[in-house]
Amino acid sequence: MLACNDVVKQFAIRRTWGSRQVTVVNRVSVSVEASHVLCIVGESGCGKTTLGKVLAGLLAPTLGSVTVDGTLLYHPGNKAWEREALKIQLIHQDPFSTLNPVHTVREELSLPLLHHQIVPKSLVGEECEHLLTRTGLDPKVVIDKYPHELSGGQRQRVVLARALSVRPRYIVADEAVSMVDVSSRLIMLDLFLEIAQKERIGLVFITHDFGLARYVALEGTIAVMYLGRVVEFGGTETVIHQPRHPYTKVLLSSIPPLQAGDDFKIDKVYPRSFDVPSLELLPPGCVFEPRCPYAFDRCQSALPVLSTVVHEPGHQVACYLEDEETAVV
Ligand SMILES: Nc1ncnc2c1ncn2[C@@H]1O[C@H](COP(=O)(O)OP(=O)(O)OP(=O)(O)O)[C@@H](O)[C@H]1O
Ligand SMILES: [Mg+2]
Repeated sequence: MLACNDVVKQFAIRRTWGSRQVTVVNRVSVSVEASHVLCIVGESGCGKTTLGKVLAGLLAPTLGSVTVDGTLLYHPGNKAWEREALKIQLIHQDPFSTLNPVHTVREELSLPLLHHQIVPKSLVGEECEHLLTRTGLDPKVVIDKYPHELSGGQRQRVVLARALSVRPRYIVADEAVSMVDVSSRLIMLDLFLEIAQKERIGLVFITHDFGLARYVALEGTIAVMYLGRVVEFGGTETVIHQPRHPYTKVLLSSIPPLQAGDDFKIDKVYPRSFDVPSLELLPPGCVFEPRCPYAFDRCQSALPVLSTVVHEPGHQVACYLEDEETAVV
């Protein structure tokens, strides 16, 4: 299992009058098991990429911990965690910036194989071809090409092949299909899911698009993030069909209906304001209060904590409306 426990990530932001710390990820605990999918959904700037990097072993948390199959990542004095971090591979949204422009596909795939001694030197060529085939590319066509000679979809497949080269147990895919042509997007998503299923890889899928999250994590879980915090968490079906947090309802209201008779119906909820508060000046109470159409006095005074919804084990929400409803019942 890949898990983060109570993770906080702060950055120092320089201003003319000095620097200040902003908390970009605030007390987040999420996990994913092998062959399962966890989707992290939220608007731009809510901390998804930062959380993804912390989960992938690329950014140390300011507070809290990350464990991979029981081993603590970022453990000072334990250099072995760097090896453990190999088990988690991050795939970025922009394959062009991830691939070295002066490396052919063969070089790009050979490097990690040789560096981490995944296969004997004599078998590297064969392994490169195998990795490309696994990701739906024809080695004969692409292996000697440079990134600029490939399409967006082909590039992202090469990035996936490179991630698979070190035999990861978990993949963190950060908006991984957003720069792929619309026509190939679904095929690419299916490829991620197929590989995760076949090779028992745990997939953390980061997206701002609830429509994609619904497709990818149909049998998995969804964590909805807002301004660095998880405001709702649960099984995909539950979060989508019985959302509890007003912010989740706002996000779900923005999915356009695909076709008449689509089983997904929700009463539309619109925010009071479309302005997201700055991380440097957060409201004192619930972070969603300034935009929440249901906000009441209590929401301004203190932050609601993530708690399990009554009679719905596994479904958590951070909203005072829950207490109100329970009180009415
Ligand atoms: N290295 C950094 N130093 C200072 N601030 C940072 C740093 N990295 C990210 N941030 C800030 O943290 C916040 C969250 O950024 P992050 O990239 O994690 O959000 P995101 O949810 O992935 O957004 P998007 O959907 O646009 O990709 C943003 O306000 C960003 O400006
Ligand atoms: Mg991002």
